[in-house]
Amino acid sequence: MNRKKISLSDITAFKTEHVPRPHVNALVRPHCDYSAAERRAAAELGGWNVFKFPSKMLLVDLLTDSGTMTLTHDQISEMMKGAGGGNYAISEGYELLKEQIERTFGFDPKESELYLFPQGRVAEHALCSCLKGEHMVVLANTFFDTTRANFEWQGIVAEDMTVLRGGKADARFLGNMNLEKLERCLTKYKGRVPIVYSTITNNTCAGQPVSMANFRATRDLCRAHGVSFFLDACRFPQNAYFVKTRERGYADRSIDDIVRETMSYADGITISFKKDVAPIGGALIVRKGAPLVTRQPGILRFLRSHQRIAASNETQGAMTEMDKMTIAEGLRIVTNEAYLRGRIGQVAEFGTYLANLGLPVVYPFGGHAVYLDTDKFFKGTDMRREDFGGIALTSLLLLKGVRLCELGSFAFGKYDAATGQETFPPDHFVCAAIPANRNELQDFMYVGDCLKKLHDRRDEIPCAVPVFGRDEPLRHFEARLKLV
Ligand code: F0G
Repeated sequence: MNRKKISLSDITAFKTEHVPRPHVNALVRPHCDYSAAERRAAAELGGWNVFKFPSKMLLVDLLTDSGTMTLTHDQISEMMKGAGGGNYAISEGYELLKEQIERTFGFDPKESELYLFPQGRVAEHALCSCLKGEHMVVLANTFFDTTRANFEWQGIVAEDMTVLRGGKADARFLGNMNLEKLERCLTKYKGRVPIVYSTITNNTCAGQPVSMANFRATRDLCRAHGVSFFLDACRFPQNAYFVKTRERGYADRSIDDIVRETMSYADGITISFKKDVAPIGGALIVRKGAPLVTRQPGILRFLRSHQRIAASNETQGAMTEMDKMTIAEGLRIVTNEAYLRGRIGQVAEFGTYLANLGLPVVYPFGGHAVYLDTDKFFKGTDMRREDFGGIALTSLLLLKGVRLCELGSFAFGKYDAATGQETFPPDHFVCAAIPANRNELQDFMYVGDCLKKLHDRRDEIPCAVPVFGRDEPLRHFEARLKLV
């Protein structure tokens, strides 16, 4: 036999279509057994609100990527090192976390203040409630719902400036700030704007990234108007990965380096560590030289007092020692490039699967979630925006043990009880958020099958009618609905 044999170097040079995940599963949690009737009873009891549905009844839970990650071995061992640790004074967990935050984000500790909190919205609440001024307006590429709600709670007007409907948007960075609108608003609201925000990645804009050029230009505009530029930095690793892979000049830079450059343009950040980093945690960082501090001298001490009163002292931030250890280790590993390639690749794989089934997914895929365009989903049916089709869709999926989240006419719409009028946001999405390191392709294929079946019969999907909580702030968490 002298048939040709494949050479070993041929094999090592093979290019494969798929790459393995950058980890294997180390712990599993088996599902509980529930019947369709039990799920239906639970959904009805919770007023068809996905937030009121028991998680134990679900088979694939894509409600959020927040606090739902799978921990690594090292995180669990770091976490255990915090067990029994003192927490009411400078503790090991505090020191480790503070050092890691400095390494990851690059804010000089001598020139900035770090305030720890148990999650992102608590950090936002601290910042918003310490702002002083008349008729204040804050501007953002797009505010996440809790950030907007926190500003509005203080009577501050929050205005979005997305590029999505600008016409000439760069498709690689659809999360960008609309700079022309920002400039107009900074002039129009002169003296009234304490902060401009960029949310990265831009969750409400389908999880799209913001380019480094856009950060730089936003910073320059803010500086010219003497206004502070803050980041809502929850998904900073994904944003950095998109910059590396999409923006000219960044291909050879490390993710860590890109993260630090991003942060260098910001006067401060609020962040939730619950996205990919750890199951809990948040922070506010403010540079001492921020225009905000000039505008409102004393704000840094005021924030510290707020933290002490609301979230215990500087070293604690209403977290346990174990939490801080877990976050420190999470921050150390979350910028790993192989991790991010696998993470973002999984989102794209799920999105492509849905698209191949003919489902109206939003392109390009974001860094943590696949978004379905609800208007397109119901195109050709008589479903109107005020019928809350996205809510009906997510409600029906509960019966199959699948949880997605409506981010559209209900979550971001507003009801005026006096006039009975609803006002709607520009985008209507149903979001399938992918928890870090948790699900596998098979789970996503099941979700795709369920969605496809409902899409095939979309003209038979009922309307969702709110029966309670229609005019509450963040109403999607509280409302009860009926399907008619
Ligand atoms: N900012 C953004 C962009 C977020 O996505 C979130 C939370 C927060 C702030 C608030 O952080 O939950 O720690 O208080 N997003 C979750 C989600 C809830 O499902 O997208 P938190």
